[in-house]
Amino acid sequence: MSGLFISFEGGEGSGKTTQSDMLVARLEAECGRRVVRLHEPGGTPLGEHIRGWVKDQNAPLMLQAELLLFAASRAELVQRVIRPELSQDAIVVADRYADSTTVYQGNARGLPLEEVTAANAIATGGVWPHLTFLLDIPPDASLRRVGVQTSFDMEGHIVPIARAEDSSFRRFEELSTPFHRKVRDGYLQLAKAEPGRWVVLDASQPMEAVHAQVWERVQELLAM
Ligand code: TMP
Repeated sequence: MSGLFISFEGGEGSGKTTQSDMLVARLEAECGRRVVRLHEPGGTPLGEHIRGWVKDQNAPLMLQAELLLFAASRAELVQRVIRPELSQDAIVVADRYADSTTVYQGNARGLPLEEVTAANAIATGGVWPHLTFLLDIPPDASLRRVGVQTSFDMEGHIVPIARAEDSSFRRFEELSTPFHRKVRDGYLQLAKAEPGRWVVLDASQPMEAVHAQVWERVQELLAM
């Protein structure tokens, strides 16, 4: 495969979607190669159905079923879109990928890591990003960004106390602050374990500043 695969990871409200859009626009304007923007779950007809399901707060799922739905969506995406695009020299920019499964289903929801790893291995078929940006932000700041007011409980933990009336909250985002803390810690562990692939950025900076750092690293990769 001769293309380039870049992913963005991070918790809710970390700015992944904004940064993916900014990077795609910049690549399209400046590099003259085909650029494909994806988000997970989604990106294929089955993937978009699965996205609706897993984000529907009225449809609680068993953890194992949830794991396999994310894996099914990803298997379709890898085989129908990512592999063919990479083999045609495209640049693929993904808003979440298999690291989200490791962190959300493994670290945060508590499924055994070997089950999560096995599901990821089947779904990805060994296709992993060349570069992954972790948009790192403390949970209280990210929850505020997505419209949740926070306070502190008796033990000093940040707790969501209300949500914006017009927010498009789904059950993932409604989970507690300890959940978001596990997500953040899980990502930081992954980044530490594989520093050659991960770039950790402070996502509490203005979006233009984050984008400038993203662009610098992508340019280095394009020059290789
Ligand atoms: P978002 O990407 O639009 O924020 O929403 C996707 C939600 O799905 C988000 O809460 C994270 C969650 N998710 C998982 O739990 N596991 C996964 O493998 C993926 C891709 C997403």
